[in-house]
Amino acid sequence: MSVLSTIKKRFSPYTYEKTSISLEEIESAFEAARWAPSGYNSQPWRFVFASRDNLNFETLLSFAVEANREWMQHSGAIVVILAKTLSDYNGKKDESAEYCTGLAVGQMLVELTALGLQAHQIGGFDHKALSLHLKLPNGVLPMAMMAIGVTEEEPKDDRQRESLTTLISNEIS
Ligand SMILES: Cc1cc2nc3c(=O)[nH]c(=O)nc-3n(C[C@H](O)[C@H](O)[C@H](O)COP(=O)(O)O)c2cc1C
Repeated sequence: MSVLSTIKKRFSPYTYEKTSISLEEIESAFEAARWAPSGYNSQPWRFVFASRDNLNFETLLSFAVEANREWMQHSGAIVVILAKTLSDYNGKKDESAEYCTGLAVGQMLVELTALGLQAHQIGGFDHKALSLHLKLPNGVLPMAMMAIGVTEEEPKDDRQRESLTTLISNEIS
């Protein structure tokens, strides 16, 4: 069974249908994240979730930069993605925590797509203010925020994606 066709359906939309997404509806996406591999099976990813009908949605949204708030405000739910970068074993830096968190989120995205939803991640938010608001312990870092929802938007076509990839690989070589 190949999941490539599902992977190809994923894209980051800028328009959402303002339909609230409950935690129950996307529980399997968090379950997909849970099954990701991690160094020493430390599972260093953490998530903060707020659906659009919850007061915390507006609060989380307020940490995104204005250009992102503009379209994120219509999404069905916001997830904050956190990496726990200090090891439980020895308290030292877990050098692969961010990498493993990315792996988990990759799996989550595939499951969200399979559920008929789309997600758009952002790095454009106030990391420091959000960390303070969430009272994050030492070593727990916000990696990204993710807007999830129902969209009628069409994905970019394959050609556009291909040319972006080619452009980047040309720059590297
Ligand atoms: C870590 C990360 C940070 C991102 N930050 C932003 C952002 O601040 N604003 C935005 O509009 N898109 C952001 N994106 C979305 C990317 O621009 C998008 O994934 C990329 O252009 C590829 O498009 P696609 O996801 O539709 O394939 C981010 C994506 C990732 C993975």
